[in-house]
Amino acid sequence: MEYQTKILKAEYNGELNSSILKERGMDLLQELKKDPAVIKAAELLEKGETTALPTETVYGLAADAMNTEAVKKIFTAKGRPQDNPLIVHIGEEKQLTSLIRDEISLKAQLLIDRFWPGPLTIIFKKNRLVPDITSAGLDTVAVRMPAHPLILAVIQLSGLVLAAPSANTSGYPSPTNAEHVYSDLKGKIPLILDGGSSELGVESTVIDLSGDKALVLRPGGITREKISELLEEEIALSSKKIDKKTSAPAPGMKYRHYAPEKKLYLFSPDNLNNILEQAEDKNIALIISKETKLKVENIKNIKAVEIFSRKNPAELGRKLYALLRKFDRNQEVEEIYIEEIKDKGIGEAVMNRIYKACDRS
Ligand code: TXA
Ligand code: MG
Repeated sequence: MEYQTKILKAEYNGELNSSILKERGMDLLQELKKDPAVIKAAELLEKGETTALPTETVYGLAADAMNTEAVKKIFTAKGRPQDNPLIVHIGEEKQLTSLIRDEISLKAQLLIDRFWPGPLTIIFKKNRLVPDITSAGLDTVAVRMPAHPLILAVIQLSGLVLAAPSANTSGYPSPTNAEHVYSDLKGKIPLILDGGSSELGVESTVIDLSGDKALVLRPGGITREKISELLEEEIALSSKKIDKKTSAPAPGMKYRHYAPEKKLYLFSPDNLNNILEQAEDKNIALIISKETKLKVENIKNIKAVEIFSRKNPAELGRKLYALLRKFDRNQEVEEIYIEEIKDKGIGEAVMNRIYKACDRS
């Protein structure tokens, strides 16, 4: 099916983000539920259509998580492999009980109270009512409550729970603004709600509490350090080697992810010169810290540069996908080079995405 993809903005005057949500809470959501853009999105979703919605991490491509036909449309629009399960987005805590099999555990409750709404996805044993397509046939379901007022208003108005992977073509960098979504999914979806640039720019942390020890399957917006502090235990990062032929520990980890079409290379501040030598006969884009940039002479084959501060890894996280997309489209650029940062705190999530974007296997 071919759609005439529309982009709509809320009439709300001002930036819609997690801070204003915190400040105004239900009052803001009540106001947004009367907004024509929100009403349109809710109507489409209720009819079993898809809609791209902003979250505080990246834009998601949403559909009614309990409607198999609707969820199929997500997989089709993205070209997503069917064995990669989706995250279900809820707007109120009470929606969780309809998705899960057991009582909410103590640890899960602590995480929910502290980090929802926010960039933390929790894996639960799933209730029979959740369709197989949503959880890719697993007996678990991934759930999060996002912190962008627009998606929360749409969920509350429709009363639905929304399956929503990132709203990009499968494998490509996630979208952090409405224009990214449009460039990937134009003609394939009916509507995009424009909620501005994503605040975080990297996806949510995915945590599995089913074993004895909590395990982070994907590092993201909530750092392992913060989770560890709250639960008073070490939180490991799943690092199992992935066998491409069998199903992966976090399904979906076996696929190519976040990658631009051009080759992306990682360098450390110490091997900068080797890298520049390697790139000598290529036109390159460079994503480099200002600290390291001081060591680079004016080199003529650098066609585009983006400078970040090593002291602010969150800033690189916010911009990463947009930069990869921008340099990928720049016809003067043949290869992209990016500087490694410390994989602590939010840097762990940022480096995880960079490693995957570099991996062309
Ligand atoms: O921030 C985010 O999480 C964004 C926004 C839109 O909410 N969504 C997102 O969705 O990143 P997606 O589909 O691109 O990534 C979902 C990740 C995948 O790695 C998937 O394998 C994992 O969550 N996942 C989903 N359900 C799972 C389950 N039942 N068990 C283990 N991993 C699961
Ligand atoms: Mg994704």
